[in-house]
Amino acid sequence: MVCLGNICRSPLAEGILKDKVTKKGLNVMVDSAGTSNVHQGENPDSRSIQNAKSHGIDISNLKARQFKTADFDHFDKIFVMDASNFNDVISLARDEKDKAKVNLILNSTFPKENRSVPDPYFGGQDGFETVFQLLDKATDAIVNSLDRTN
Ligand code: 4NP
Repeated sequence: MVCLGNICRSPLAEGILKDKVTKKGLNVMVDSAGTSNVHQGENPDSRSIQNAKSHGIDISNLKARQFKTADFDHFDKIFVMDASNFNDVISLARDEKDKAKVNLILNSTFPKENRSVPDPYFGGQDGFETVFQLLDKATDAIVNSLDRTN
């Protein structure tokens, strides 16, 4: 799960997907990262922590890190939140195999529409619930597709 800062959207996506795969007993490694290193080492934004908590998910211990080329070797699928994240991650890809791993997360729920998860950083708490609802549906679709391939 990749966004810009790894403090708002992608930690929520990580927490939500981890919760689902754990409840389903699926053996899947889930992680998140940011394309920027500005917030490296920080816990998620307090508004993301609060939103996750309101849905029974604890993301307070996550720590931001920057996406790196080696992530293409460690993960089968790389879900990005918006078009800018997509371009930044693709620019680190070494070959077509790396590029094929990258997709906008909302293409899981709205195939081929290339929709973005809106960046809630400069808004209020409401924006975080909007992000949660989008990610909740997208991660349902992801878990269903994992169920079929596991
Ligand atoms: P995220 O949100 O990419 O969802 O973690 C942002 C976090 C920080 C900034 C922008 C977006 N920032 O400008 O510092």
